[in-house]
Amino acid sequence: MNDGIELRPPQRADGMAVHRLIAQCPPLDPNSSYCNFLQCGHFAATSVAAERDGELVGFISGYRRPDAPQTLFIWQVAVSEAARGCGLASRMLHHIVDRHEDLTHMETTITPDNQASWALFERFAERREAPVEAAVWLDRERHFEGLHDSEELVCIGPFGALARN
Ligand SMILES: CC(C)(COP(=O)(O)OP(=O)(O)OC[C@H]1O[C@@H](n2cnc3c(N)ncnc32)[C@H](O)[C@@H]1OP(=O)(O)O)[C@@H](O)C(=O)NCCC(=O)NCCS
Repeated sequence: MNDGIELRPPQRADGMAVHRLIAQCPPLDPNSSYCNFLQCGHFAATSVAAERDGELVGFISGYRRPDAPQTLFIWQVAVSEAARGCGLASRMLHHIVDRHEDLTHMETTITPDNQASWALFERFAERREAPVEAAVWLDRERHFEGLHDSEELVCIGPFGALARN
């Protein structure tokens, strides 16, 4: 794609830029800058940074679930306002998965009213020909003590399963 945006694994030096980008992308929860440095270091292989003219315009943090290593858990997806609506988030998701031949599933959590996020992951599942299941995982009252919207766990996979049916 010729939009001048380069995708690559993040590096430790990206930590502060990631921290600023997340802060500019509500409703994402900001984490400590230390956490963002860990994402850019220890979790670089399963994360992605998108850069245009030296500026970070997109970031996804992800990791392999420790108890299910072929499942990529996507933690946060952030695209700067100026870069939205051009397929960047989709491109970043596929970019991470394409870097790892052994991944079979993707999981993430989404709040019920985040339409952009639902559209992003449903579209991803369609393109990977994978079934999707969703159910409340962290409940507003029971888990967040009323302080945060419920988070639904979205399970996508196995990749390609619908093509085989
Ligand atoms: C959600 C977000 C990452 C989407 O980034 P993006 O680069 O604009 O997304 P894409 O262009 O790749 O769009 C992917 C799909 O979602 C759809 N979509 C994107 N934004 C949408 C919106 N606001 N409402 C409905 N659908 C939307 C697109 O139409 C596309 O579907 P299509 O291929 O069928 O057309 C971006 O809006 C963002 O950073 N939001 C704030 C943070 C956030 O909510 N992150 C997600 C939670 S982890």
